[in-house]
Amino acid sequence: MKLWGGRFARETDRQMEAFNASIQFDQRMWAADIRGSIAYARALERAGLISAGERDTLIQGLEEVARELAAGEFVFLPSDEDIHTAVERRLRERVGSVADKLHTGRSRNDQVVTDLRLYLLEEIPVLRRRLQDLQRAIVDRAEEHLEVIMPGYTHLQHAQPVRFSHWLMSFFWAFARDQERLQEIERRIAVLPLGSGALAGHSLGIDRRYLADELGFRAIAENSIDAISDRDFVAEFLFWAALLEVHLSRLAEDLILWSSAEFGFVELDETYATGSSLMPQKRNPDSLELLRGKAGRLIGSLTGLLTTLKGLPTGYNKDLQEDKEPLFDAIDTLHLALPVAAGVIRTLHIHPERMVRALDDGMLATDLADYLVRRGVPFRQSHHLVGRAVRRAEELGIPLRALPLSEFQAISSAFGPDLYDVFDHRRSVEARSSEGGTALAALQEQIARARRILGE
Ligand code: ARG
Repeated sequence: MKLWGGRFARETDRQMEAFNASIQFDQRMWAADIRGSIAYARALERAGLISAGERDTLIQGLEEVARELAAGEFVFLPSDEDIHTAVERRLRERVGSVADKLHTGRSRNDQVVTDLRLYLLEEIPVLRRRLQDLQRAIVDRAEEHLEVIMPGYTHLQHAQPVRFSHWLMSFFWAFARDQERLQEIERRIAVLPLGSGALAGHSLGIDRRYLADELGFRAIAENSIDAISDRDFVAEFLFWAALLEVHLSRLAEDLILWSSAEFGFVELDETYATGSSLMPQKRNPDSLELLRGKAGRLIGSLTGLLTTLKGLPTGYNKDLQEDKEPLFDAIDTLHLALPVAAGVIRTLHIHPERMVRALDDGMLATDLADYLVRRGVPFRQSHHLVGRAVRRAEELGIPLRALPLSEFQAISSAFGPDLYDVFDHRRSVEARSSEGGTALAALQEQIARARRILGE
């Protein structure tokens, strides 16, 4: 049974049928498809297009089909081109010819994109909770290790000392932006295309406001052509997913580097590591490598969809069927990646002594320049003077704090004996008490704000 067989005298080629089908991947939208059809049956009755009895028969039939699908009892046939065809075919088998009235005024063009939006609106809260759980793991661990000081990097070179928690919290805010972005996208997803027909609307008095309310959409699409052609929401979701994965990838990269023997700052828990089939000693950070690696896959999906959309003529084109696999893949990827990322953070072993050992005096050169500033030396000059002191210490092969006062004073008379107080990493970190800085009080405020965002 084909939905469109009437004008065809010959059977579809078998390979064409397989090529054309989307049932392998769009069957996961079955619940959305049935919800949409139940609301649609109600709208048809309200428009006087079917009787109340017919409506009830359709709804009961659809509920039966839903039960079969939920129980895994539904048998798909080779002729079930997509989930919309499959549900309607089965409905007809169950309730007879009244099923033929369900598609009145509806096209698969408005149906498929309604289903896709409904499906996404179901998934988004789950993703939001999973991302929130990762954020919670970050805040918990940050709070646990407030006193751990480590080298902070720019250009992957020693820059200034920071708190480990401050580094960790930097990712909280990236994920907070991901949460905001998701909320904004959700608003645009919750716009109803149903009632747009194939592209031009319908002539049958079906109430789109009613449909929107029934299905939980906050608005109805303003233009029927746009409603059936628009896949911006898929592109936006894929961008959201790709950027979130980019954030996960960067978090993973720091931890991969820091768990190497050379750094040894952190150690991945065994529950998130794997071994080598050849080298018995290995403990590999596969979890982190996959968190990093999946970013490539999601960026590829976004690029792929944008390429599909670019240059499509107005209206529905079958190219649009290509929107689903990358979208579903992105959702599946994140459903796995987010809990793994949260687990890695929760179980991560921290080695503060290795972090402290990596600190050096050079990282306090800025503090020394600030010291001169407080003694009235303009910053440009103090930067230069401290640079000379660093060079002198290097020449002598000694750490900066071992440079004698006479050497400092030969460079500038502004240096006094109290300059050596600067050589204290903890003090340096504590000194940066600006909002968003590394001082304990600033960090605690940051964590408090994060907890408020998490609703704690
Ligand atoms: N399976 C199709 C898709 O995913 C459903 C819409 C089909 N519409 C059409 N005019 N052939 O896009």
